[in-house]
Amino acid sequence: MSRKTILHMLTPLRQMSPFDVNMALDAGYDATIPYTGVELSDVGNLVQDAIFSRPPDAGVATGIFIAGKDALLALDMVEAARSAMVPPFEISVFADPAGSFTTAAAMVAKVEKALAKHHGRDLRDTNIAIFGATGVVGYCTAVITAEHGANVTLVGHDGVERVNSIAATIKQRFNVTVETADGSTEENKQKVLAQAQVVLAAAKAGVQVISAAQLGEAGKLLVAADVNAVPPAGIEGVKVNANGDPIDATRAVALGPLSIGNVKYKTQAGLFQQMIQATKPVIFDFRDAFTLARDLAK
Ligand SMILES: NC(=O)c1ccc[n+]([C@@H]2O[C@H](COP(=O)([O-])OP(=O)(O)OC[C@H]3O[C@@H](n4cnc5c(N)ncnc54)[C@H](OP(=O)(O)O)[C@@H]3O)[C@@H](O)[C@H]2O)c1
Repeated sequence: MSRKTILHMLTPLRQMSPFDVNMALDAGYDATIPYTGVELSDVGNLVQDAIFSRPPDAGVATGIFIAGKDALLALDMVEAARSAMVPPFEISVFADPAGSFTTAAAMVAKVEKALAKHHGRDLRDTNIAIFGATGVVGYCTAVITAEHGANVTLVGHDGVERVNSIAATIKQRFNVTVETADGSTEENKQKVLAQAQVVLAAAKAGVQVISAAQLGEAGKLLVAADVNAVPPAGIEGVKVNANGDPIDATRAVALGPLSIGNVKYKTQAGLFQQMIQATKPVIFDFRDAFTLARDLAK
């Protein structure tokens, strides 16, 4: 018997993201149901409510999506959902808070491809500076790149205190070390850029964090990537659809938000489709997003 595919979409915020609802329905779910204001302690009960209402063989047609704007809370919710399963009553789970897991995965996959294609190297031992590092996309980008051997620096736009605390949570949770830097003045940013081989801009939409002049003086730069699609660009001069375009006066190439967004979109859609088509329940976080984004990035 063909079962309806149902996606229960949980967020700790006041509203579920229409972006995620559209993505899930377009990927093929028959029904998506938003649950807002969900706390970590609610997740177990919601999952058990979902698993026991359908026979075990329908578990694979039942999904939980975890949204919000906090990577660690989303990962804690994934663990709470995992612990609430009562085999053989199990369902699929996918976390992508504020699109950050798929966006970070897409940005890093595109950077990895550009490093290989234009500079014959990979992420390992590459100096990566992340601007917008206190945001959820920046956080996840830091974890993925550090887990793949890069020398990662979180650049704090308001000093080092907050990025130091984020670096400590990354060490505790993922056992990888990331450095921090004060990016609160133009002079300090320039010092970071002087050492960076890859610059990733994950700052708030519509905020320019790096000028073209600063980029021009980044002597070791190989790749600059920007995920902000709202003018002005996060990195001045990086066009929205840049896809390995040369950057003036450097040997670096640029990646813009629409070429990264194209892989992000396909990654999120692809993970929903994998959930729908799976023969056994699956659990996806940013690592699965990065695996798929690597296949999709060109
Ligand atoms: N291309 C795509 O497919 C795609 C998909 C999803 C998201 N995005 C974009 O990805 C970016 C990051 O998303 P997010 O959800 O992590 O964003 P966010 O939470 O709004 O902010 C990201 C970072 O920007 C910082 N910031 C705020 N004002 C700043 C300023 N004046 N100067 C420097 N940094 C500043 C924030 O610092 P505080 O912590 O102090 O606020 C935070 O570190 C956004 O531009 C978003 O539009 C792109």
